[in-house]
Amino acid sequence: MEACGRTINLVAFASGRGSNFKSICEAARSKRLRARIAALVTNVPGAPVTEIARSYEVPVIELDHRGKTREEHERGILKALDGIEYDWIVLAGYMRLFTTSFVERLWDESLSAARMINIHPSLLPAFSGKDGYAQAIEYGVKVAGATVHLVGTGLDDGPILMQRSFEVRDDDTAESLMARGLELEHKLYIEALSKLGEGGWKISTGPSQTGRPRMVWPVKRSEQ
Ligand code: GRF
Repeated sequence: MEACGRTINLVAFASGRGSNFKSICEAARSKRLRARIAALVTNVPGAPVTEIARSYEVPVIELDHRGKTREEHERGILKALDGIEYDWIVLAGYMRLFTTSFVERLWDESLSAARMINIHPSLLPAFSGKDGYAQAIEYGVKVAGATVHLVGTGLDDGPILMQRSFEVRDDDTAESLMARGLELEHKLYIEALSKLGEGGWKISTGPSQTGRPRMVWPVKRSEQ
């Protein structure tokens, strides 16, 4: 099935293995996702994800963070992004925290967030930070999951696009949970990006007492 909507221009950020990045490249190539991946930015020169990018002919921008302050590194990123046309930055296992001022440089008031999307390996707001699947095993939860969200200024914060859960088995380890979680992530990220490209969604405070922004998707005809 071909996706509808317009083609979205993405710049991906990743630091390591790159399985989510690969699934985005594959979906774009097979036209399941109407997207063009303008570049891959990595802070880890030579990371496996760079090979994946080259195999899909995606230009790679390697900006090593070592030996630089966070601000210096981010200035380099902004400079590199300057000549690139993109709608969204897609974080796919980018293992660096951004400064508030970097997030604010990419801020879009109409989104109450930056023009940046992330996938996180837990059902946020549970288990933010590193190693979401290991945290889930450590805590002993019965249901795990993944979240796709816009990037706000707080840690793993920002309006949630989509979440999906799956059961934790009694014999699961952090590794087995991650293996099933990644499979789910690959599908979820493509679905969320497709829906984003289809448009019709809005950011609203809905019934929130605190005015916290949320993503509201268009109601499908069949649901009306
Ligand atoms: C994924 O679990 C993702 O949710 C998290 O980092 C991991 C990246 O894995 N943000 P991969 O590099 O895409 O395989």
